[in-house]
Amino acid sequence: MSNRREHFSSRFAVVAAVAGSAVGLGNIWKFPYVLGNNGGSAFILIYILCIIVLGAPLMISEFVVGRRGQKNSYRSFKTLSPTFRWTLFGIVPSIAAFIILAYYTTIAGWTLEYLYQSIINGYSNLSAMEVQKKFELFSNSVFSPILWQLVFFLITAYIVYAGVKKGIEKYSKIMMPLMVLLMIIMAIKSLTLAGASKGLDYLFKPDFSKITAQVILEAMGQAFFSLSVGMGILITYASYMSRKSKIHTTVGAVILADTVLAILAGIMIFPAVFSFDIAPNSGPGLVFVTLPNIFNQMNGGYIFAIIFFLLLSVAALTSTISILEVTVSLVQEELKWTRSKATIITTIAIAILGILCTLSMSMGEEYHIFGMTFFDMMDFMTSNWLLPLAGVFAVIFVGYVMRPEDVKDELSNGGTLRIDSWFRVYLFAVRYVAPIAVILILANQVGIFNFLR
Ligand code: PHE
Repeated sequence: MSNRREHFSSRFAVVAAVAGSAVGLGNIWKFPYVLGNNGGSAFILIYILCIIVLGAPLMISEFVVGRRGQKNSYRSFKTLSPTFRWTLFGIVPSIAAFIILAYYTTIAGWTLEYLYQSIINGYSNLSAMEVQKKFELFSNSVFSPILWQLVFFLITAYIVYAGVKKGIEKYSKIMMPLMVLLMIIMAIKSLTLAGASKGLDYLFKPDFSKITAQVILEAMGQAFFSLSVGMGILITYASYMSRKSKIHTTVGAVILADTVLAILAGIMIFPAVFSFDIAPNSGPGLVFVTLPNIFNQMNGGYIFAIIFFLLLSVAALTSTISILEVTVSLVQEELKWTRSKATIITTIAIAILGILCTLSMSMGEEYHIFGMTFFDMMDFMTSNWLLPLAGVFAVIFVGYVMRPEDVKDELSNGGTLRIDSWFRVYLFAVRYVAPIAVILILANQVGIFNFLR
């Protein structure tokens, strides 16, 4: 184990790294399709509620554990509470990370295919119907999705192994603002399409009758997924954070960026969905069948498409790096492997599971587990179950195992910041609101009792 931990050079570097992990396919690919599968507007309300009531306290808690523990996601808990046996809980987040990376790279591979198609002008002049057909043909085929997925794995593993993250960070600083700008332009284009207002209604006219137990569970899962919580990523990154950075402002900035981007993605996608008569509940393909149509309608669409899919791949890359990084650093430190051995073996193991996820969209489409494809099952299990469970564990740890004085000391940077105004609220959220809410939502889902339809 390294004796002195490297630290992020500046406050901005922390925000950039955490935001790089949080902002990714979760915002642009997953948020719109989960929203579409769950009836629209009401989902956004519940989602934002989950972000504020559960996501924020949870993120802060992971930061407290990581920066105080100064170890990897698993060992930080052990350091802070040597007498407890946290093994199981320390391991759940890593299992979640392992599985998420497997199916995340399926979609990350799709972004590379779309980048390639944009370059060769593969979908210009196609009607909305043909764009959809082309997507189905691609996602149902066996070889090219796996090929792109493996390319994505290679790039991720290379960066994690060679430690060239600094370069990536440097580019991200330019690329992420550019992405936002591009999304705003595309959202404006989408809003000016014929019939676009239906999309806005769908997003922002809350229909409370659509709120079901399932919608709440999905919104919570999506909030956790999008913020990258419950996987030890924030714990690991926080352990590289300097004692001078402010935890709460870092968390606030990341949450704001992540949420604004997700909603912006919604504004970019849904008006076009209705305008081109695409089903809002088309599932994981939604963004991929919608975007090419927008580009086809835009002046300069050819160039915009290339830049957009390039940026989307990079956004996905900063997320996959963070997931592989925690897994590799854990394996390396706990099993005392070399970095290269840890990277190679972890990547191969995840890639095998990843290929199965990709195949479940083509050859394995008929095989269903609990009515879901293997891909959906992996996603459902991690986002909706493992992340909330691991998240609850972190808040309970901070709320009940750590001493409140220590938590306060960590959040106030050793008493140098005034945090009295919100510390009690935070402690209340961590002790009561967050754990009880998550447990109720999960218990309701298993049918232990039913407070919701
Ligand atoms: N939050 C990332 C996204 O929105 C995905 C992710 C999940 C990254 C979990 C790390 C951990 O794309």
